[in-house]
Amino acid sequence: MGILLTTMSLTKEPQDEYYDINELRKIYGSGDATLWPKPQIDSVVIKDYVEIGSLPKPEFPEDNTFNKAKAKLGKTLFFDARLSVSKQIACASCHEPQLGWGDGKRSSHGHNRTLGNRNAQTILNIAYAKSLFWDGRSPSVEAQVLFPLQAPNEMNTHSAIAVQHIKEIKGYYPMFKEAFGNDSITVDRIQKAIATYERTVVSTSSKFDRFISGKNNRYTDQEVLGLHLFRTKAKCVNCHYSPYFSDQKFHNLGLTYYGRKYEDLGLYNVTNKKEDVGKFRTPTLREVANTGPWMHNGLFPSLAGIVNIYNAGMPNEKRKPEMVNDSLFPVKSTLIHKLELNKEEKAALVAFMKTLSTTASRRSITNVKMPM
Ligand code: HEC
Ligand code: HEC
Repeated sequence: MGILLTTMSLTKEPQDEYYDINELRKIYGSGDATLWPKPQIDSVVIKDYVEIGSLPKPEFPEDNTFNKAKAKLGKTLFFDARLSVSKQIACASCHEPQLGWGDGKRSSHGHNRTLGNRNAQTILNIAYAKSLFWDGRSPSVEAQVLFPLQAPNEMNTHSAIAVQHIKEIKGYYPMFKEAFGNDSITVDRIQKAIATYERTVVSTSSKFDRFISGKNNRYTDQEVLGLHLFRTKAKCVNCHYSPYFSDQKFHNLGLTYYGRKYEDLGLYNVTNKKEDVGKFRTPTLREVANTGPWMHNGLFPSLAGIVNIYNAGMPNEKRKPEMVNDSLFPVKSTLIHKLELNKEEKAALVAFMKTLSTTASRRSITNVKMPM
């Protein structure tokens, strides 16, 4: 592989200089992102573009600052099935550390009653998310906690029952006291504690982070090529940009399955605006190798398959005859283009995406002691 790629020249800008892999390795692995070639992004993206890179330390909001006792309480609650009516489903049942903090299934029952079942997202790195869920319907990590507690398919409980269950457990009182100053157990505190814990669930340094920090021998030639293509010819950074690898915006990739069994109108379900039909939040690609199957519906079992459909410019949804005048007919994002990547290039993109994942995130967590 390496030999083949070393001789391959790549365009930096369509017309100007040429790069070879050794030169790209030097530049991308220099530790100085200002030396990188310009990203190939559409003009509408330029004003908001933030370069990909390493994540800063997560921030905690002023109304829910970090303390160790709160994070420990939140972790305990996250793993405690007694938060549900049946006392059998914990947050961790669908967000398992060993499964990239998702559930590894095509879809879980979903946090709501909207059409179609959704794939359980990872909770890794949600400290950086500006809105939560595939359709962004929760504005904060704190608010998000209430959704599963209230969704009939999930933990099937009203928050009041959850609070009641926790209040029945003596061992929780000292933990609330240590976290919040007194031992009152409220739904607000349960939300705050779980959110605090979730913000501590962040990726450790990935191969990508080490390579761009200046350790320029960490990448194979294929991975160097993949990184370069991701930012240039493949135009992935039209949407997957910033250290979080997401623009935190919503786009329609043509996966609405309009008028079909898997139909899911995404953001439209939240806003009722027709321009939002089929839009989903750009997911982070950090840890992506650990979080399959992919996309909001979990219908995509391989990263190579995903690169193939991006390469083809994503599906054009079929307008059935009866949809001719349908004003809700989904419109695909103009930031999606046919790419004309060859076989080596497609494989390089997959190899690059894998370098955004860490093995530490798969570690199972065994040290959660349940209070009695
Ligand atoms: C039955 C499975 C299930 C359970 C139980 C569950 N979740 Fe989820 N979780 C999901 C699914 C499915 C989604 C995606 C839903 C969507 O976007 O509509 C999700 C999404 C999330 C997200 C959003 C991540 C992102 O990137 O936006 C967070 C955070 C989260 N869950 C935390 C929790 C917490 C905290 C609990 C416990 C209070 C919990 N979940 C319980 C299945 C589950
Ligand atoms: C127009 C914006 C846009 C562009 C350009 C784009 N993506 Fe995406 N990407 C998204 C959105 C939005 C989703 C979620 C779509 C859904 O579930 O319906 C997504 C999902 C994904 C997923 C699945 C992640 C998961 O957790 O399920 C992968 C992998 C991915 N993109 C890789 C890429 C690669 C590689 C490229 C470049 C070839 C690329 N994307 C270009 C917006 C974009």
